[in-house]
Amino acid sequence: MSRIYLSVPHMGRDEQAFVAEAFASNWLSSVGPNLDAFEQDFSALIGLPSVALSSGTAAIHLGLRLLDVGPGDEVICPSCTFVASANPIAYQGARPVFIDSEAKSWNMDPNLLEAALRQPRARRPKAIVLVHLFGQSADLDAISELSERYGVPILEDAAEALGTTYRGKPVGSRSPVSAFSFNGNKMITTTGGGMLVAHDRRWVDRARFWSTQARDPGVGYHHTEQGYNYRMSNVLAGIGRGQLRVLPERVAARRAVAFRYREAFTALEGLDLMPQADWGLHTNWLSCFLVDEAKLGASRDKLIEALAARDIEARPVWKALHLQPLFAGVECHGGQIAEQLWQRGICLPSSSSLTDHEQQRVIDTVFDAVSAARSRGMAKECARG
Ligand SMILES: Cc1ncc(COP(=O)(O)O)c(C=O)c1O
Repeated sequence: MSRIYLSVPHMGRDEQAFVAEAFASNWLSSVGPNLDAFEQDFSALIGLPSVALSSGTAAIHLGLRLLDVGPGDEVICPSCTFVASANPIAYQGARPVFIDSEAKSWNMDPNLLEAALRQPRARRPKAIVLVHLFGQSADLDAISELSERYGVPILEDAAEALGTTYRGKPVGSRSPVSAFSFNGNKMITTTGGGMLVAHDRRWVDRARFWSTQARDPGVGYHHTEQGYNYRMSNVLAGIGRGQLRVLPERVAARRAVAFRYREAFTALEGLDLMPQADWGLHTNWLSCFLVDEAKLGASRDKLIEALAARDIEARPVWKALHLQPLFAGVECHGGQIAEQLWQRGICLPSSSSLTDHEQQRVIDTVFDAVSAARSRGMAKECARG
């Protein structure tokens, strides 16, 4: 039996042809027709100008710079997210301020956000990094309203949310600037890569300029600003072009995986799929479940162990950033929900290429782990009694 991973790349029909074109035409560089076409296709999807970068982290970094985040600034960020949402805040010499999640979406709690924003203007944070976790949109209406009322702009971290919608519109299309990721584990991949989108085309041009070492126009190597080597390669953009063509299929497949698990686990009290908020399409990029150990009779860690013993990869939900030694002492508004999600959340294998048989292996292993844990629990009770 082969190993079942959490989330693997899933190529479509056309990626290799686009990559072959890059080789045939010798556009083996950070310029070329695949890059132009990939950006155009992505712009058509999200409805905004786009620039292809080396990673989602690079996109967040450049987005924060576009929002003029600098040394000494504070930037709001959810606590329940991958560390890559917060690291670029520190790259800019700024400090994160963490906000807890709301139970109904696992994303940033607008009430706690308001508490953090309700400050005299001079003490307000400079920006909000708003993450759409595991394929589900945050409550954009409520959070955008707060952003406007307090004059603190949003950068949407949509790294996990390509294909996700909020009230019918793609996430990443509403705020001044947004970031997407094409890391190998994401909904679609370029093996590694990211995209920055912005409402103002000049912002996208600036990000493109910074991403290629900020070389001023002209043949001489003249520099007036600091830049980075953050541009995507034309070869990888070819993969991205092919992947974008299969995005709707990939979204449908991941949702089907999550709903199949949910259906199977209705028989198990205490193992619940991540909430599906009614404001948009949750892609269920990862199939995340919450374990209630008292009801299920098995702990989250026991499930992970049992799956690992059968060569199936499962992981906890992100460890809350306010608990990370890296961010010791950082201000956090609330935090209990993020802590619960980390302690009780499990991400099950979610690849769009997962076969029926592989899903059944996951389901059977969970059932076996639960009955083994329940029997152990009963045996202990008897021994005590
Ligand atoms: C929420 C979130 N933000 C940012 C990133 C960073 O993206 P990348 O790995 O492309 O740098 C990721 C994933 O890796 C992520 O899950």
